[in-house]
Amino acid sequence: MSDEKKPGAATVAIHAGQEPDPSTGALIPPVHLSATYIFTGDKLDRFMAGDEDMYTYGRTANPTQDQFEEKIARVEGGEAALATASGMAAISNAIMSFAGSGDHVIYARSIYSGTYYTIRNLFARMGIQDTLLASMDNDSLDAACQANTRVLYFETISNPNLRVADADRLTAWAKKRGLLTIVDNTFMSPYLFKPLAHGADLVAQSTTKYINGHGDQLGGVIVGSKDLIDTVHSLVYQNLGAVPSPVNCYLGMRGMKTLPLRMEKHCENAMCLARAMERNPRVVRVDYPGLESHPDHTLAKTLFPRGFGGMVAITVDGGLRLARQTAQNLRLARYCASLGDLETIVETPANITHGKIPPEIRREMGVTDGMIRVSVGCESAEDIIADFEQAIAAL
Ligand SMILES: Cc1ncc(COP(=O)(O)O)c(C=O)c1O
Repeated sequence: MSDEKKPGAATVAIHAGQEPDPSTGALIPPVHLSATYIFTGDKLDRFMAGDEDMYTYGRTANPTQDQFEEKIARVEGGEAALATASGMAAISNAIMSFAGSGDHVIYARSIYSGTYYTIRNLFARMGIQDTLLASMDNDSLDAACQANTRVLYFETISNPNLRVADADRLTAWAKKRGLLTIVDNTFMSPYLFKPLAHGADLVAQSTTKYINGHGDQLGGVIVGSKDLIDTVHSLVYQNLGAVPSPVNCYLGMRGMKTLPLRMEKHCENAMCLARAMERNPRVVRVDYPGLESHPDHTLAKTLFPRGFGGMVAITVDGGLRLARQTAQNLRLARYCASLGDLETIVETPANITHGKIPPEIRREMGVTDGMIRVSVGCESAEDIIADFEQAIAAL
């Protein structure tokens, strides 16, 4: 066994998947835009016989994408990764690879609305059965499990109400029943939590958010064992073609180099804002796993030793009308639908991300009408807090 010390998280984030370009010596590798690759000599015959690997066509593989995938696999602690055109492509490709017509999937009910719509509007049409569970305790899971259940799916921290999944218990439950566990880790990023180390089979997440971190790339990634990733690639991915552009792979790779730095600052700022909002009399509720008042705080402390993430949900008294007004009163933070950027971004789930979900289901998901979901950015903490305080004071 090697006694070589493993490189730290920041070293891996910066160096993994990146070698100087052998033809020019360029430190930063070039972006490969070519859609296709020439067949020279008998290379194609050797490729078809399985004796040699080669790039053939961009929907199957691309060198820039390979570098991005190698970096992300190393950062996540997985054997292999597959980059996709968006987070939704990663999630849908992963689920569709292991659940088909007549199969059943169990989901935590409080999930990203796009995933919810995919289950309800697309997977149902394809004959994939589902159970959306309000509670993921073992009794509820046992009751939901059927002979045709294939997959258990949950988010590390649920969107937007920030409940923490008991990942070790959930993956152990699934393993015992021979189910595959797929985890959306978008809200935490691999710097703060690595689902594979907690028993998950696959991570399927958006890179549009913290992984790229600069709001200028749309992408997703699936990470897991080489066998599982090969199955996704051959069965679904290269047929449906939700392939990322090489430029987006490059941006994702560049963004990941600062992931540890950014996540430290997101966590620090989120904690400061959450504490300030707890003291504000117009705020009736603050959801942040780092607060002692959060129902999952004890679990969060064991799962997230590096920090509790950059997402905070605050609920103002006065329902959706005043939540929207607060969002519009903000001067530094931006009212728009994304998260994980350097800029502080807010959205009101009741009329944006979760707006098309029936109100009674929204309530069951823990989404209040007055909720403002905050993706706390990397600006100076005192400026972020002052912005929220003036926005609420102006109501
Ligand atoms: C938790 C979560 N998962 C997945 C997605 C989908 O990602 P994308 O927009 O890159 O498709 C989002 C988007 O907001 C999200 O918040």
